[in-house]
Amino acid sequence: MSTGVACIAEGESSKNANGELLVALPEPGLSMTQDAEWCVVHIDGKWRHIRFHDYDELYSVPGLYEKVIYDILRCDSPRVLRDLLETELSTSATPADELRALDLGAGNGLVGEELADLGADFIVGVDIIEDAAEATKRDRPGIYDNYHVVDLANLNEGQQREMAGYRFNTLTCVAALGFGDIPAQTFIAAYNLIRSGGWIVFNIKEDFLTNGDDTGFAGFIRAILDDGTLELRQRRRYQHRLATDHKPIHYVAFVGRKRRDIS
Ligand SMILES: C[S@@+](CC[C@H](N)C(=O)[O-])C[C@H]1O[C@@H](n2cnc3c(N)ncnc32)[C@H](O)[C@@H]1O
Repeated sequence: MSTGVACIAEGESSKNANGELLVALPEPGLSMTQDAEWCVVHIDGKWRHIRFHDYDELYSVPGLYEKVIYDILRCDSPRVLRDLLETELSTSATPADELRALDLGAGNGLVGEELADLGADFIVGVDIIEDAAEATKRDRPGIYDNYHVVDLANLNEGQQREMAGYRFNTLTCVAALGFGDIPAQTFIAAYNLIRSGGWIVFNIKEDFLTNGDDTGFAGFIRAILDDGTLELRQRRRYQHRLATDHKPIHYVAFVGRKRRDIS
């Protein structure tokens, strides 16, 4: 099996004369699972290998996440989810400035940026790693009213009180479910922080919605839709991004209204 790399785009040099990053991705013929995907980036005269799901490393290089995932592999998820939410707000005549959003798996703030641009009143980011909070402060300062590095499934009493005090009416969770990232119990804890009638906006890889899925999300999502815990407003399959072998990766986006807590 080849382990070669191929520069994907002309002139994408590492901090070249123009101050741009030099990045290379695996040659397109090299097929791998999404969880194994990687790039190399030229830093201080050396090539560094970074797996996409090693978020601490990915966020540690300013601009790398955006360059690889968004510019080269054309990730579209924050925009797609924002557009779906915007459509539903308009249909229900809800002004965006009423949104008090919890952005779960906030990373370095791309979804927060969409919410802010939409006009949300109040946005709190939550991530499990400190590197995400630091990258947000570095890359998108001021986007979030607050940013917490916590595990929502294991809050202490003070943290629980603080989260409840935010009186969230919107949950966003983009590109963060499955793959050993956010487990169902963390998503449930976040969901239960949203007031009834609030907006629930998330996406998940389509493979995790099939019967053979072992992340638990397929059955869980079906159950909350079937029993009316979540009232579905939009469900859309779309291209999340390209894989490093240039094949499309499809996700399913959901927008709904919370009707009750998940027990
Ligand atoms: C692919 S990134 C998505 C970031 C952002 N939502 C976006 O669309 O650009 C997934 C994020 O989920 C975070 N994450 C993983 N497990 C988590 C957990 N249990 N609680 C909160 N965040 C988590 C990761 O640290 C990472 O920042």
